[in-house]
Amino acid sequence: MCGIFGYVNFLVDRTRGEIIDNLIEGLQRLEYRGYDSAGLALDGDKAGESIIVKTTGKVKVLKQKIVDQQVDRNTVFENHVGIAHTRWATHGQPMLENCHPHRSDPNSEFVVVHNGIITNYRPLKTLLQSKGMKFESETDTECIAKLFKHVYDTNAAAGVDLDLCQLTKQVLYELEGSYGILVKSTHYPGEVCATRKGSPLLVGVKTEKKLKVDFVDVEFPEQNSEPANNQDLNLLQKGNNLRTAQSRAFLADDGVPMPVEFFLSSDPASVIQHTKKVLFLEDNDFAHIYDGELHIHRSKRSEGDTTTRQIQTLEMELNEIMKGPYKHFMQKEIFEQPDSTFNTMRGRIDFENNKINLGGLRSWLPTIRRCRRIIMIACGTSYHSCLATRSIFEELTEIPVSVELASDFLDRKSPVFRDDTCVFVSQSGETADSLLALQYCLERGALTVGIVNSVGSSISRTTHCGVHINAGPEIGVASTKAYTSQFIALVMFALSLSNDSISRIDRHKEIIQGLQKIPEQIKKVLNLEDKIKDLCDKALNSQKSLLLLGRGYQHATALEGALKIKEISYMHSEGVLAGELKHGVLALVDDKLPIIAFATKDSLFPKTMSAIEQVTARDGRPIVICNEGDEIIASDKVMATLEVPETVDCLQGLLNVIPLQLMSYWLAVNRGIDVDFPRNLAKSVTVE
Ligand code: UD1
Ligand code: F6R
Repeated sequence: MCGIFGYVNFLVDRTRGEIIDNLIEGLQRLEYRGYDSAGLALDGDKAGESIIVKTTGKVKVLKQKIVDQQVDRNTVFENHVGIAHTRWATHGQPMLENCHPHRSDPNSEFVVVHNGIITNYRPLKTLLQSKGMKFESETDTECIAKLFKHVYDTNAAAGVDLDLCQLTKQVLYELEGSYGILVKSTHYPGEVCATRKGSPLLVGVKTEKKLKVDFVDVEFPEQNSEPANNQDLNLLQKGNNLRTAQSRAFLADDGVPMPVEFFLSSDPASVIQHTKKVLFLEDNDFAHIYDGELHIHRSKRSEGDTTTRQIQTLEMELNEIMKGPYKHFMQKEIFEQPDSTFNTMRGRIDFENNKINLGGLRSWLPTIRRCRRIIMIACGTSYHSCLATRSIFEELTEIPVSVELASDFLDRKSPVFRDDTCVFVSQSGETADSLLALQYCLERGALTVGIVNSVGSSISRTTHCGVHINAGPEIGVASTKAYTSQFIALVMFALSLSNDSISRIDRHKEIIQGLQKIPEQIKKVLNLEDKIKDLCDKALNSQKSLLLLGRGYQHATALEGALKIKEISYMHSEGVLAGELKHGVLALVDDKLPIIAFATKDSLFPKTMSAIEQVTARDGRPIVICNEGDEIIASDKVMATLEVPETVDCLQGLLNVIPLQLMSYWLAVNRGIDVDFPRNLAKSVTVE
């Protein structure tokens, strides 16, 4: 779980300073993926020379270190490859030795940045050590750099001349696990090889002239010739030189190569300030960039392999990934919810005729309607949006629905069948546990549906069909606007599944009309910010723990509120099903423990009230989230009420969660926590 960024210029003069700035800016936009250390690698002034700068801490520390080390900014390069990395530690603590890039040897013949985990790095390390290689770090990544040198040297000694892509293939053949990798080498100046398996990686392309075609051909070997899996890593293979093909997209009319810049990155949001043209790599693709061309290779050809990769045009705008007037991305994203929820519904709901049209699901709906059960699979906040909408699925579709945490689902090796529909909900579309669960379900023949924010992400591309929630890039580590948009996308999905049901016309209409009002109602809830800030200042800041009570639709809201508070403010908080209070949790209640109770109007309202009374009878003074104008309980018995507009029962969670998002935000700000970068976390969890 890290961010990788690469920048290549060809026939475009760039000073080293400009190259550094591009890499640093790219890393800053990837920082949400990990921020415990950062580093970059550049060419030195003489052939065969490299500059590597790395440090623990955030990207701004790296930026300062480059200044402190007086790295020369003036040298001009017509062709150059720079690679960079921001880290979230998995193997080895965040300390200097463990920062990326990692090198093969003191001369930095091969330099690597890596996102993911190499699971077989221990035996590889032992083997490479037995060949005399000296390791400098505790990371799994270092063995990749060392392996490059070992395979290169072994082949060179035997007189075999491999190009960088062939070499990468041979190295990768030995690695197990997940990865997004960039490698540069003093033996291949001006070239970079990028490959991925299980970790996202894309290539942004910037040219002055229009590309000849908007795709790149995939180049397969003539025959499926895999290198022998030789334990001794004696990987000699007299391969054909792959540098014979020409990439059609980059062919200039006059045959003269054209000036071009390439941006390699884990996330499109980090390249859009330069270009909107991007190509998403698929698992096991090798992107080889040299002489101003991008080539995509694969080691072997399998049935169903596509033969081109599209160069797509991103729809996102730069201002979507800037903070604007807000102090933090999280705050911006909370306040964006009137727009983001509207965008989720835009063009998909006909409010006049009460009809839903999800383009990505339309042709699949008859199959889904016939399925035996629906399994919703996700992690964290995305799991909560599944919980929040499960009962409306059950009510409208009458199909049994189970909701699974991806990791637990895999641990249990839960049975999945061909007539199941498995729904994967994910903001990033890259969460490792969810992706593994998706693979598991595909192998068992189930129909898979994605509910995803990031277009082009692995889950979005691997599922049979799905819905993009269109919430716009979410950068703050705490998920906020993605939750409300996932919630709405799932409700729209449930409505589409039961579209043909006459008996439900009135219920449909009620929900669709309710959805139409949601963006305006969210605006109203956001007005509670001052009151919530005040509550945090006066009553909650000094507390160590917080309990959230909800039942029915509001159980998910309680769990989501508790997750937000703990991850951002580091305050212990627990979401409890109100019906479970008397089965143990009540023992915690006294006049000190702060409690938040959801008491908005729905069929379970009387039961929620009885839970609140159980609390007040034990001197607890809850903060109650209720509907506007409701006289909940004698005001001397509650600490405060937060009034939210009333909506349809199954949508109320969309409004109720917002005070909790604001509360977690202000609790964290008051405690001096860097809200967008809470400790030990990262936005995109691409490791198991
Ligand atoms: C699509 C276009 C949108 C355009 C609209 C006009 C994209 C990404 N969306 O939106 O720009 O304005 O048509 O008709 O090009 N999918 C998955 N798994 C997922 C998510 C989506 O397989 O997790 C698939 C869908 O089945 C669909 C495609 O991706 O084939 C696009 O999905 P979505 O963006 O939701 O479709 P539309 O709303 O129709
Ligand atoms: C919490 C949060 C995480 C994510 C979880 C799944 O605020 O952001 O709990 O929800 O890591 O991530 P996605 O939705 O990207 O699969």
